[in-house]
Amino acid sequence: MIKNALDEKTIQTIKQKMSEGLLPQWVLSDPQIHELELQKIFGHTWQFLAHESELKESGSYVTRWMADDPVLVVRNSKGEIKAFLNSCTHRGTHLCTADFGNKKTFTCPYHGWSYNLDGDLIGIVAGNKVYGQEMKKDEWGLRPIPKIGIYRGMIFGNLDPHAIPLTDYLGDMKWYFDILLGRSDGGMEVRGVPQRWVAQANWKMTSENFAADPYHVQTTHRSTVEMGISPKDPLYAGYGHQVVLGHGHGINVITSATGQSAHPFQGMPESMWPMFKRNLNPEQFEILSKTTVFVGGVFPNLSFVSPVHGTEGHLHNYLNFRVWRPLGPDKVEVWCWFMIDKAAPEEYKEEAYKGYIGSFGPSGTLEQDDTEIWARVVQASKGIMARDKTLSYNNVFNYLMGFDRVEPDENFPGPGVAYPTCYLDALSRSMHEYWLEMLTRDLHIEGGENH
Ligand code: FES
Ligand SMILES: [Fe+2]
Repeated sequence: MIKNALDEKTIQTIKQKMSEGLLPQWVLSDPQIHELELQKIFGHTWQFLAHESELKESGSYVTRWMADDPVLVVRNSKGEIKAFLNSCTHRGTHLCTADFGNKKTFTCPYHGWSYNLDGDLIGIVAGNKVYGQEMKKDEWGLRPIPKIGIYRGMIFGNLDPHAIPLTDYLGDMKWYFDILLGRSDGGMEVRGVPQRWVAQANWKMTSENFAADPYHVQTTHRSTVEMGISPKDPLYAGYGHQVVLGHGHGINVITSATGQSAHPFQGMPESMWPMFKRNLNPEQFEILSKTTVFVGGVFPNLSFVSPVHGTEGHLHNYLNFRVWRPLGPDKVEVWCWFMIDKAAPEEYKEEAYKGYIGSFGPSGTLEQDDTEIWARVVQASKGIMARDKTLSYNNVFNYLMGFDRVEPDENFPGPGVAYPTCYLDALSRSMHEYWLEMLTRDLHIEGGENH
């Protein structure tokens, strides 16, 4: 099946089109490509699981997914974070069926085996009577997620025991995460539980829409302009820098037309500014002071946005992290976290949460604008013309914005390749390149191997 999905000729065609700033439309809707992505990308990349503030004390747990792998994340009695496949080692049902909670032990709902917070099997119903003395409990502990990494409270897992460390994978994204997650004393905290819902969409499209496509904002979210929330200037989401980082990661650092923010420090209370100065280096502090919106992503399927909402006198900022869990080529489960500076005043946090619910929550206006578009993209990518692999109908997407035209800005103070505009497809093209690199890594192809 995998051989059929990507033979040498098809790979060469995709590469050729990508080098021209294009992407074949069929890769969005092809079930075999989806299967290959699960194995080659989701089986080997770092995926976001939870924020440490969701696991406050010993015994706190949350249940999550890494694509099709159910994951149980717990804080053990020593305070360490552990993650296991949420599948009982006896006959495989979900060990834990709740979304979150606190437990000393986990007991399986099927035959009652129980495990401690370190995943050790500690109890078997009618143990010696039915299994005999020789049943070795220590061979039947929960299966750990091969790798766990934490950066500034963000817990990631990796199914590949040979994966590079999380900090290497994040690379220069850490510098920007330091601004978003490390500017305040005590860092960020998750408020409420992550909301989740299923959308008709391809995960590549949603990741790209968030991380790399500020160009859509002035049309898709036109209603915000008409309501007077967003500026009338059609270039308004394009001011600032699009920064392309390694491993398909990137961020848009969006300012106003003047290169400054209309609202310094994203409208956060002035009392917090000295704290930002203390926690950030001068370059990071300067960027934070000027930026209106940070929006970006960590490949493959973690996106984030840190916007400003509200009206003068009632401005607020928050950090929305989201995971696009692929459920098929045309379906994602959206996981959506609201995060805010732990050190912010309580009323401010409350107001910001309401702002989030009304914009990027599942019923939020901005969210609904995007959801309809994503569904229509996959709907329009399933037919004979769109799925033709020979591309005889010219069924390719256009990623030509800024192609060969925009030079990096050497004076941008942050790491990465920073282009002096956010209306640009450089980050999308970089995501596609890494996607194809991962997809074809060690792929055994008829007539030879591709590395
Ligand atoms: S499946 Fe869990 S105890 Fe049998
Ligand atoms: Fe959008």
